[in-house]
Amino acid sequence: MKILITGGCGFVGSNIAIYLKKNYKNAQIYSLDNLIRNGSRLNRNRLKAYKIKNYNFDIKKNDNFKKLPMFNLIIDCCAEPAIEVSKKEPDRVFNTNLIGTFNVLKKCIKDKTDIIFLSSSRVYSIEKLRSLVKSEKLLKPLKIKREIDESFSVDSASSLYGFTKLASEKLIREMFFKTNLKYIINRFGVIAGPWQFGKQDQGFVTLWLARHLFKKKLAYIGFGGNGFQVRDLLHIDDVCKIVSLQIKKLKKINNETFNIGGGLKNTISLKNLTRKCEIMTNNKIRIQKISKTSDYDIPYYVTNNNKIKKFYNWMPSKKIESILNDIYFWLKNNKKIRDYF
Ligand SMILES: NC(=O)c1ccc[n+]([C@@H]2O[C@H](COP(=O)([O-])OP(=O)(O)OC[C@H]3O[C@@H](n4cnc5c(N)ncnc54)[C@H](O)[C@@H]3O)[C@@H](O)[C@H]2O)c1
Repeated sequence: MKILITGGCGFVGSNIAIYLKKNYKNAQIYSLDNLIRNGSRLNRNRLKAYKIKNYNFDIKKNDNFKKLPMFNLIIDCCAEPAIEVSKKEPDRVFNTNLIGTFNVLKKCIKDKTDIIFLSSSRVYSIEKLRSLVKSEKLLKPLKIKREIDESFSVDSASSLYGFTKLASEKLIREMFFKTNLKYIINRFGVIAGPWQFGKQDQGFVTLWLARHLFKKKLAYIGFGGNGFQVRDLLHIDDVCKIVSLQIKKLKKINNETFNIGGGLKNTISLKNLTRKCEIMTNNKIRIQKISKTSDYDIPYYVTNNNKIKKFYNWMPSKKIESILNDIYFWLKNNKKIRDYF
């Protein structure tokens, strides 16, 4: 089986590529990545060590796709995933995230290739997610126990990032309509683990732990600046396992959209994350308070995994402690990566 992973030198793509290479002896794994993300060059070196070839080109340029051989499956992990970039670089976000998917889909149609698409929980309406919380300023820990399922509203604005993800989902359904090709759409919540080069607006878990370990500054941004916003966390190993299961079962389970995340048992606020990082690193750092909330930010997101559990009998296996532990040892054991944080 020949598999192309777009965004293969990113956090998610590189981990899936190596997982598949280790676990499917007969699979040939390829990557497509222009290495624009900070840290992607290091991930490219990891792929090299596993003899996984990377096609280094921009996904927005359709002509480049002529260089590629045929594949049985494309796992589309290529995106500009930071929401705040939607404001600063709308053209790049649109071209990478939506035109990129369009080019991938044209290749799929031409070669009769199935697709697994990495979508995001950020397709859901910002207004509706905000309305789960009473006031914009979070002055104390949240007590909500709500899990977001696939029927949650996608009707109002969700950032340009969220729009490109939702539009990509629709494009997949549109272009695969009346073909025999198979697709899976995975709306992931926050994913965390080793080889994520986290920054303030994307990949906050590695960023938080790294800044504690290397004694650098951080800030609680938005919702009053108290750090009470909440997310659920999913270990990258759990992502690799579910994607691998989806590949195995693609003939039977296909053309479905799933929410996938850490769930209620794996939720944490920034404030509690700080406490855990302090204990783990034995360091206390200055955390600035920035009260003003970005128009695109949400105070709370926790995944409802009922559908994915029902279809695959899959649940996240790794707890928050295990996520943090694995990131901690990755940071400790790789001297080179210190400068990336
Ligand atoms: N990390 C998460 O928490 C999370 C959560 C939900 C969904 N997702 C989705 O999962 C996918 C992977 O996310 P990630 O965290 O690995 O992001 P990432 O930034 O680490 O990886 C994306 C990769 O795509 C590459 N890339 C970007 N623009 C490109 C272009 N124009 N041409 C070619 N390559 C380009 C980058 O160099 C990078 O290596 C994305 O689609 C993202 O939206 C991620």
